[in-house]
Amino acid sequence: MNVHASALAEAHLPDEQTTAFAREAIEDLSQQPKKLSPKYFYDATGSELFEAITRLPEYYPTRTELSILRERGSEIAKIIPEHAALVEFGAGATTKVRLLLNQCKFAAYVPVDISGDFLKAQANGLKRDFPSLGIYPVAADFTTPFELPKAVASMPKVGFFPGSTIGNFEPHEAQAFLKSARQILGAGAQMIIGADLEKEERLLHAAYNDAAGVTARFNLNVLVRINRELGGNFDLSAFTHRAIYNHARHRIEMHLISRKSQTVRLLGTSFSFRPGESIHTENSYKYSLERFAALAQGAGWRVRESWTDAAKMFSVHALEAAES
Ligand code: AVJ
Repeated sequence: MNVHASALAEAHLPDEQTTAFAREAIEDLSQQPKKLSPKYFYDATGSELFEAITRLPEYYPTRTELSILRERGSEIAKIIPEHAALVEFGAGATTKVRLLLNQCKFAAYVPVDISGDFLKAQANGLKRDFPSLGIYPVAADFTTPFELPKAVASMPKVGFFPGSTIGNFEPHEAQAFLKSARQILGAGAQMIIGADLEKEERLLHAAYNDAAGVTARFNLNVLVRINRELGGNFDLSAFTHRAIYNHARHRIEMHLISRKSQTVRLLGTSFSFRPGESIHTENSYKYSLERFAALAQGAGWRVRESWTDAAKMFSVHALEAAES
């Protein structure tokens, strides 16, 4: 047992996911500059805070994507085959998938998510409202290869990756994900994917620095998790939320900035902070329609349609697997 594992056992949280969190947090906070993965935002509190973010007046992505899916529903239905299997990469709130299920004749729904509990709750709710739909949840990390359930083997496949989650990936990771999705879905597959668009900096800045401070609480929640799950002693009042737009790299960056010189401990390891030093907690890449099409093309997909709202805030793309 290494030093971190024994400290975890003492903290009475020796499960596999906590160990991975510990290992990654210690490694990422040892880097220069320090960082933490955005995937650790989403415990129960973080998921609730994210839901609250989606309702903020400044945070346009969720409501804009929903309006595109609603308005373009019949166009989407027209280009995807009937009795296909809808494979959702990551399973959040069911609002968006319900829109597609209502507007298109899918035979099966395959939500893929690392959290089995979440999948079960989600599947139960959908079963009630779509009794004839075959629901086949897969508990897996959707960024690595996994097998589709046998039940959908003969059905046409349509991938679904909403919410601009792809924006959390580095561009090379986004391309690798799209390649992997194409392999998992197979020949003849299609994919519906949401991507946030590049826009005036003022609007981006407001969306990630909301007046009510919900995004700040969401960002700080990763430190709350480290304190609780990894026995950390972060003083929350000694860090401030900052989100900036990095023009050159087309991304919003979220940071937690140390307000002073301080040392923080977690699981027997100390981390020193200079005043103003940052922990880089998230990148949210913004794509132009052209850059998104190039990304998809490099991963073996062709853009069949791209839809945006009138103000060009957000985009939804229908991709089809290029022949190979
Ligand atoms: C869930 C990754 C799409 O990048 O806008 C919201 C997460 N971070 N506010 C995004 C987020 C800060 C969100 N994604």
